[in-house]
Amino acid sequence: MEKHKYLEMLHKLNQEENLEESEIVSLLACDEQEITEQLFRLADQKRQHYVGDEVHLRGLIEFSNVCRKNCFYCGLRRDNRRLKRYRMSEEEIYEVGKKIAHLGIKTVVLQSGEDPFYDAKTVARLVKRLKKLNIAVTLSIGERKKEEYALWREAGADRYLLKQETFDRELFRKLHPDDDYDVRLECQHILKELDYQVGSGNMVGLPGQSEESLASDIKHFQKWDFDMIGIGPFIPHPDTPFGTFQMETEKKYLLTLKTLALTRILTKTALLPATTALGTLIPGGRERALQCGANVLMPNCTPFTYRTQYAIYPGKICLTEEWGSCLPCMKRMVENLGRRIADDYGHRRRIPLPK
Ligand code: 5AD
Ligand code: SF4
Ligand code: FES
Repeated sequence: MEKHKYLEMLHKLNQEENLEESEIVSLLACDEQEITEQLFRLADQKRQHYVGDEVHLRGLIEFSNVCRKNCFYCGLRRDNRRLKRYRMSEEEIYEVGKKIAHLGIKTVVLQSGEDPFYDAKTVARLVKRLKKLNIAVTLSIGERKKEEYALWREAGADRYLLKQETFDRELFRKLHPDDDYDVRLECQHILKELDYQVGSGNMVGLPGQSEESLASDIKHFQKWDFDMIGIGPFIPHPDTPFGTFQMETEKKYLLTLKTLALTRILTKTALLPATTALGTLIPGGRERALQCGANVLMPNCTPFTYRTQYAIYPGKICLTEEWGSCLPCMKRMVENLGRRIADDYGHRRRIPLPK
């Protein structure tokens, strides 16, 4: 495609903050550095315009690495016998939540594999206790029954993360031996009905994933109007069926950033994390993401002994021994970019600012 066609698309993106799926495909496939850089700059401007310079922190507690599912890409999959499994007790989780609140972080994210050991009542009780600390609570514990989602919402949970991973049906099937595409989406539907702030997201650089698949992801993010969208690179884990899949790092990196940039422009006010996976793929990856549309960071607040065992993918960063050290590290990161850490809860702002 000729260069002026790309420039036209960038112009349209700026004016209309929208593109056809086919146009997104061409931009994702475009390898002209100048175009890519203009796309990143535009995403940074739109981020500034719609959500400002504040970066929101979410204190992450990975409280169990036990999973009943067998997703082909994930190190926590049930057939991975090489992983030492752990479960934090309710009391332990609460104590970590308390420490996060005392650091001044206004959101706690409770994340785990799909572990039915934590029944609906236990989770509800924990949410209730955490909410008394005056913080927002995000759950990220997979597919559950409507009644359970409802109970936790009543208990005070604010947000729920449940990534689709891909909106390409065929690819979804190839990644998920236990999951049904429509069931996953139905969960999102239910969560929205229950008035959660709902998060989705994808992985970039999966085996068999085309630019068309990624363009479809971006259009679905827009159409569903998700409040949070986690976009991260796929990093092969040696103890999984996809362990040997290879893709050039630089290519995957740029593709992830482009997906993020386009998502920012099309969703305007969504909360987009600079993912740990991107920081793992490339040093400085999260900093770059913050300049391509991202406005959220998730300090890892899992106690050290467990943290090393939450090995979704290899080489994960932030495996520091001293608890809480991501916070000063992230403060520096944000300051170096001339941005600031938000001190509110960081809820999604649904009404866009006037232009
Ligand atoms: N590389 C990158 N991200 C992964 N996830 C799972 N496996 C990998 C991997 N190999 C992400 C998925 C999932 C979450 C548990 O971690 O997006 O939602
Ligand atoms: Fe379990 Fe989630 Fe990993 Fe799938 S992606 S194996 S559901 S932790
Ligand atoms: Fe975790 Fe730097 S952000 S150690």
